[in-house]
This record gives sequence, structure tokens and C-alpha cells, in this order.
Amino acid sequence: MKKPDNLILIIFGASGDLASRKLIPALFSLKLQELLPEKMMILGAGRFHFTDEEFREKMVESIKSFSEEKELDDQKTESFAALLSYIRVDYNDSRDFGELKKKLYEVDKSHSTGGNYIFYMATPPGVYKTISENLAGAGLADQSEGFRIFIYEKPFGNDLESAMNLNHILHEMIGEDQIYRIDHYLGKETVQNILVTRFANGIFEPLWNRNYIHRVEITSSESIGVEERGSYYDSSGALRDMVQNHLLQMTGLTAMEPPSSLEPDAVRNEILKILQSLQPVREEDVPQQVIRGQYTGSLIRGECVPGYREEKDVAADSMTETYVAMKFFINNWRWGGVPFYIRTGKRMPARVTEIVIYFKRTPHHLFQRVEKVLTSNMLIIRIQPDEGILFKFDMKEPGSGFKIKNVNMDFHYKDLADTRVPSAYERLLYDVMTGDSTLFARNDEVETAWKFIDPIQLAWKNNPEIKLYGYPAGTWGPSNANEIIEGCGLDWRFPCKNLTDDSSFCEL
Ligand code: BG6
Repeated sequence: MKKPDNLILIIFGASGDLASRKLIPALFSLKLQELLPEKMMILGAGRFHFTDEEFREKMVESIKSFSEEKELDDQKTESFAALLSYIRVDYNDSRDFGELKKKLYEVDKSHSTGGNYIFYMATPPGVYKTISENLAGAGLADQSEGFRIFIYEKPFGNDLESAMNLNHILHEMIGEDQIYRIDHYLGKETVQNILVTRFANGIFEPLWNRNYIHRVEITSSESIGVEERGSYYDSSGALRDMVQNHLLQMTGLTAMEPPSSLEPDAVRNEILKILQSLQPVREEDVPQQVIRGQYTGSLIRGECVPGYREEKDVAADSMTETYVAMKFFINNWRWGGVPFYIRTGKRMPARVTEIVIYFKRTPHHLFQRVEKVLTSNMLIIRIQPDEGILFKFDMKEPGSGFKIKNVNMDFHYKDLADTRVPSAYERLLYDVMTGDSTLFARNDEVETAWKFIDPIQLAWKNNPEIKLYGYPAGTWGPSNANEIIEGCGLDWRFPCKNLTDDSSFCEL
């Protein structure tokens, strides 16, 4: 793999959770794999005061707590820590950006980092605009002496209007090719593997359409609650936090046409077409098509778990959804009439992300089934954990007559390679440094996704009588979500953390 050009990476919000849990451990892993530039410095920037030494110590602690690398030793962490320094920046004070510019100039001279800068906004989204304006005001968007890249974490806006405004403001200062909008799900190996599964194997393509597929289900469940993020989450909710970005991007990859090449825009154009083909959910259909829920306090494995409204920084009468299940259609030739079901929630029984393709049943049932329920062929693409692919199909049970049983054929990603699967942030940071924007959301994708989400958000706002169902923490969400599945006796799959099991009996 090629080494990126020399550069300085500036992380705004460097003392925050994202930097310590994800970015710094990912950069550390890239360093161990020798995938950082020959000459690179990482400059933490933020509102708090740290000396360089204090910042380095803090980041080494983060690596010890959150790195996925097995063999950590002082020599490795110290040689990484030597790349780090820190500057205090008040995001609202343009003079501080003048100081930042001076500091970058000095670091660049002393470490020969090639005059290239990447700015990573790992801050609350409310300050993206101010930071970007101040960077541009200080002349730090100008690319005459090296490249200038701007990375924005999600959420990018909180509705269509705010996303358009932010895009508009950024485009007045920087080009779209300088902007990288992170959706970390796109950095997951197994999400990229959707493309390989579909487009490297000839057997799937002829079946991948309305003639053979009955329905598609995408689940992204989490066992954790909102943890320390109550104040952000309470103004966001599951629809904005997970559906607008991660789940719609996964829908795009599952449903898109084959791209003409793997060029960033070829892939992104196909995802965009799917987002543009989503049939809008009308206000009057929201109660039937979109189920929202909020977790309530419960006892999980002997431990009392607070309800969402009891969480820190959450309003005691909060109407924010921590669970969403919805049905929608994609209006194009491939998918006309095929329902897509997506669901996401916090405090569910397991952390699982998977895509389930349900194939249509045979038109005539010849055989007697061992199980009472009629099953269909299913292809399950497991994004996490126990990453892999499972195909479920019917086989004859040994013995007289034709009794059939649904069986599994499974592939586990861990069997493919002996090495650790790189984290999403490793992949994304490496891609930014090497200038590959394929796995980043383009402005039109983000806006089109908001266009689909906004009417639902608005319907909830305008019609408080639309029910917000409670569900006990540790369960699969409100049972009303089962009612949105079309067809007698059909239900969601209830996955376990191990790919091959589902239903009530899961390995703990
Ligand atoms: C983030 C959301 O984008 O994704 C979080 O803001 C969520 O609320 C997280 O917990 C889930 O990511 P992962 O990689 O753990 O599935």
C-alpha cells in the first residue's frame, strides 16, 4: 500500500471522546503498519489547556484503553507520542487561528511535513461553520503551498435546510474535492464487502431484484444506552443519528446498480440514485410505516439499567426516539414493490448490524416441513460482530418421506485472514491521506438523505399523538414494529451475536 504524502493532521476537539476512543488509536495502528506518511505531525487543537507533554500522556492513555493492537509496548507508544503536540484554540476567536497558522508554519519547517494540512472536525457539529470560516479567514484553506483537506464528522446538518446551508457556506470557501464527510460505517471492511459480494460473484446478480427477492431487512442494534452523550442524543434521536446516514448508506450499497468503475464518483453516483429513488413517506403514512420507541428502565442480567429519561443530560419528559423501525420502497425497475425494512435501536439484546435478503418462496409447496413455519431462502450479510455471510436453505431430513429442514451455510470473515480486521477509522483516515473519497458522503448524497428523513421528523413534530412506544431496556423494541412487516406470520429476524443463531436462544 502506498505511503501518503507528508502532512500535518490537525484535530479540533482533540481532548474529546471521538479523538481518544477512535482517531488516536486508529492513527497509532496506521503507524504500526507503517502507513503514515514518512514525515507527519499530529496537532491536537481545542478549547482546553494542555501542554504538549500533558496531551501526549493523555493520548497514550487512550491508546492503552482503546487500541485494538494486541502487543503494546512503551517503545511503540512513545515513538507515536513523539508525533503529537497541542495548541489551545478558542473556536470563536479569529486571532487564535492566526496563532494556529504560525504554529503550523513552524511545525512544518522543523519537521519538513511538506506544507500539507488536513483539518479534522471532531467537535460538536454546531462549531463546524465557525471553525471552517476562521480557518479560511486565516488563509488556511488556500492550496497554493500544499493541499488543504477538511474532514467533517456526522451529523452533517440536522435537517435538509441546515445541511444545505452548511454545504453552501463551505462551498464558498473550499471546493467539494477538499471536503470529506465521514460516515464511519462506510469504513467498515464488511460494509465494503457488500460491493464485493454483489459484484464479484456472478450468481447473485440475476437474483438481485424484484423477481426473486421478497423483502430486504437491515438491522443495526446496539446493547449500550446513550452513555455520556445524552445532551447530543436528546436533540438528535435514532432517526437522525443512525438512519439518515449509516442505514441509508447501507441501503444504497445493497440496492445500487453495478458502478461502471471503482472511481469515487462512479460508486457515489449509484448510491445517490438509490437515495433519489426512495419513495417519500407521506405524513399520513408515518404512523403505519415508521415505529418509534424509547427504552425504559429494566433489569438486564441482574443489573438495574436506567430508562432513557433517567439518563444524564436527557429531559425527564423527552420524546426523543431511541428506536426506529420503518418500511419503505425504492421506486425503480429493480426494486419496484419490494419492501425494505430497517430498524435501529439502543439498549437492545445484542450489538448486531446485518442485512437480510429474503428470497421469494417456491410457487408450489411439495414437501412437508419439520418446522411449522414456512421459511424462505435467506442471505444474511453480517456487518458486525462475527462478520460473515450466512445462507439459509432447505434440505431433506434423513429418513423416509420428504421432510425438509432449514439449514445453514456460513462463511466467517475471521477465517479469511489471520490478521486483525482494520477499524473503520483506520481505513477512512488512510483514505483521506491518500486522497481517495470513495467512502465519504458527497454533498448531494447527504442532502438527498435528509430530504427523505425530514418529512418523518416533521410528521412527529406536527402530530404529537403519533405514538412513542416504550420498550424495556434489553428487548428487541416495541412489538408494534412487527405489524409493519407485510405478510401473514412474517416477522423480523432476531439475531444473536454469533451469526448462525437467531431467535430466543443466544450465546451470552
Ligand atoms: C454513531 C452514532 O454514528 O454510530 C452512535 O452516533 C452509535 O450513536 C454509533 O453508537 C454506532 O457505531 P458502531 O460502529 O459501534 O456500530
